[in-house]
Amino acid sequence: METILHEWGSLLLRWVHIITGMAWIGSSFYFMHLDAALRPVKYGTKGADGEAWEVHGGGFYEVRKYLVAPESLPPELMWHKWESYTTWLSGFVLLIWGYYLKASLFLIDPAVLNISPVVAACIGLGGLALGWIVYDFLCKSPLAKNEVALAGVGFVYVIGMAAIFQHVFSARGAFVHTGALMATIMTANVFLVIIPNQKKVVASLKAGETPDPTLGEIGKIRSTHNNYLTLPVIFLMLSNHYPLTYSSPYAWAVVGLVLVAGALVRVFYNLRHSGKGDKWWTWIVAALCIAIAVAISVGASSTARDQLGWAPLDPPTRVAAAVDVPKKVENVVISRCSMCHANEPVWDGIAIAPKGVKLETPADISRNAEEIYLQAVLTRAMPPNNITEITDGERRVLRDWLASRSF
Ligand code: HEC
Repeated sequence: METILHEWGSLLLRWVHIITGMAWIGSSFYFMHLDAALRPVKYGTKGADGEAWEVHGGGFYEVRKYLVAPESLPPELMWHKWESYTTWLSGFVLLIWGYYLKASLFLIDPAVLNISPVVAACIGLGGLALGWIVYDFLCKSPLAKNEVALAGVGFVYVIGMAAIFQHVFSARGAFVHTGALMATIMTANVFLVIIPNQKKVVASLKAGETPDPTLGEIGKIRSTHNNYLTLPVIFLMLSNHYPLTYSSPYAWAVVGLVLVAGALVRVFYNLRHSGKGDKWWTWIVAALCIAIAVAISVGASSTARDQLGWAPLDPPTRVAAAVDVPKKVENVVISRCSMCHANEPVWDGIAIAPKGVKLETPADISRNAEEIYLQAVLTRAMPPNNITEITDGERRVLRDWLASRSF
């Protein structure tokens, strides 16, 4: 029962997370585009800094931007903040649900660091908080006067955090934490800088004072940072379904390459929308980055790792734990699953254990018992299309063994 609730909870949370994320990213892209598309005001309202005409959904829109603010505030203001907050909140719950509550499956790899689920969760949460504190400090330091220097240090900082996570968590857990770190920076930018600054502007307008223009400028800088982080964050969030991306010892470098590629694609659109031309070189460099990331990911397959002389990620010591897997269960899994779910899969077309799930030893089987139950007993998702012809009798062997375990 618990397994079913967990699986449904996971799906529903993901549903909410993706919808809120779409709303957030959609409005953020819209406003970046709008800002770039603003042209000098030709007639009409006094004090407007730019305007854009848009056509959508059967009507024409005339949008104007006032910097720092219009002379008088309209009675109703539409704030854009809950898209960001709900994305972060749903993602945060999903992180707890999927990784902290299932730490032994997805977060902790004893071959990397043998820690308890509580310690792992504390490190994860501490890492996210630290991520924001350091980034915010950098933005307020003298370094921020030089945009390029700030971008460079920020870049090295994110890669450094990715490398640290890689030495604490499972490869998959490390990647998702790197994505969560960047996403936390983005929402904290909205919650702690952009919206409070905007509120200060509104307050001073209401008090009949002239608002401080730097408040809006700072908001715009943070909002631009968010824009450059968007595509890499989405890549990292999706990557946990693709073990090739995160399994190599150089996964931190993949993070760096994706950061560059994602930011360059945004550079292309930001320049294009502001009428500064189509800088196609950005796409070429982005494609090159992804090609290098693909080359690095080859190292995720252990055969390639051996050939390249990289240390294996799974030392044999990991298998030593005492487990209670009956021989007949082991036989079913070995004969029906492990051709794909192995360190070195022998199934044609499978280069790396799918979703990082390895089912080769009794310890592997014991650790993944709940997932086996879900995939091969409760649903018949595995083997895919019953390609290895598992029989109902064999599924019953798995079920009877799993029935004796509590989860
Ligand atoms: C022909 C290769 C193949 C065989 C045989 C196979 N699997 Fe899989 N398995 C896959 C692939 C591919 C995926 C990834 C599916 C996806 O991306 O949704 C997967 C995913 C999984 C997952 C992870 C699911 C998730 O969403 O995290 C589990 C657990 C699993 N398989 C268990 C098993 C079990 C148990 C068996 C044997 C009864 C088995 N598999 C046999 C190819 C195989």
